Amino acid sequence: MSRIAYVNGHYVPHSRAAVHIEDRGYQFADGVYEVIGVQGGKPVDAGPHMDRLERSLAQLSMAPPMGRPALAHVMAEMVRRNRLRDGILYLQVTRGVAPRNHAFPAGAKPALVMTARAASGPPRDLVEKGCAVITVPDIRWKRCDIKTVSLLANVMAKQQAREAGAFEAIQVDDDGMVTEGSAANVWILTAEDVLVTRPADSAILNGITRCAVLDLAAKAGLAVEERRFSVAEMTAAKEVFLTGTTAFVLPVTEIDGSPVGGGAPGAFTRRLLADYEAYAASGGVA
Ligand code: PDD
Repeated sequence: MSRIAYVNGHYVPHSRAAVHIEDRGYQFADGVYEVIGVQGGKPVDAGPHMDRLERSLAQLSMAPPMGRPALAHVMAEMVRRNRLRDGILYLQVTRGVAPRNHAFPAGAKPALVMTARAASGPPRDLVEKGCAVITVPDIRWKRCDIKTVSLLANVMAKQQAREAGAFEAIQVDDDGMVTEGSAANVWILTAEDVLVTRPADSAILNGITRCAVLDLAAKAGLAVEERRFSVAEMTAAKEVFLTGTTAFVLPVTEIDGSPVGGGAPGAFTRRLLADYEAYAASGGVA
């Protein structure tokens, strides 16, 4: 069966899907996106993803390409036409096509594309054994709370991780405090069994998985603090893990070549992964 993509109102074969060369996403990275998990043929946390998409658009003074019910319909159609059970939907909105000029064009129509891909979470061996990460300086801009397609620094960080034989790069701000991974949020468990993750300031993307795990941890009666933490605190932590739509809840067992948390996934991480898997299987918040 051939994959189907959605491009500005049309469902087209994925191999022939294309946008104009003067699309501002292509020229200026002037666009935003969402990656939405699909489980059992249903989007996971569709509501929170739509909320965040609308926020990202508003922050960039970009008009939504269509209303929420229409967008939900396109998502459902993409799942149906691609016969997707478990995987992800990628949704991207750019400011549209206009002659190249930095200022916002008058009257450009926002462009919407969507792709679907079968996937089943992070590699099983990483989930079971934990992943290795490296730390890198965070060289990004000051509005990482906006989910923009401008991801060059994240791309470079992830490539550095790959070249170091690691799964993810954890970015560190100028104060030596952890911001986030290249495509995931970062959590630690302190010696006092307190879960800590950075507050959703403008230095990180407020992950939908992060928010779900915050709720699940509270429901499980676990102590949670949203505060900044340093690389030193992270390397001394009892447990370290990542959260994200593609990472789920992924244990980190090695940082910059040294074991962390005894070098094996910890009990809190495994509990939160199990809770998150059950939550995601239920579809999360519609
Ligand atoms: N990335 N931080 C960054 C920089 C991210 O790119 C992502 C997600 C997250 C986690 O957000 P969420 O829980 O909503 O997926 C945090 C997606 C998966 C990506 O770019 O592929």
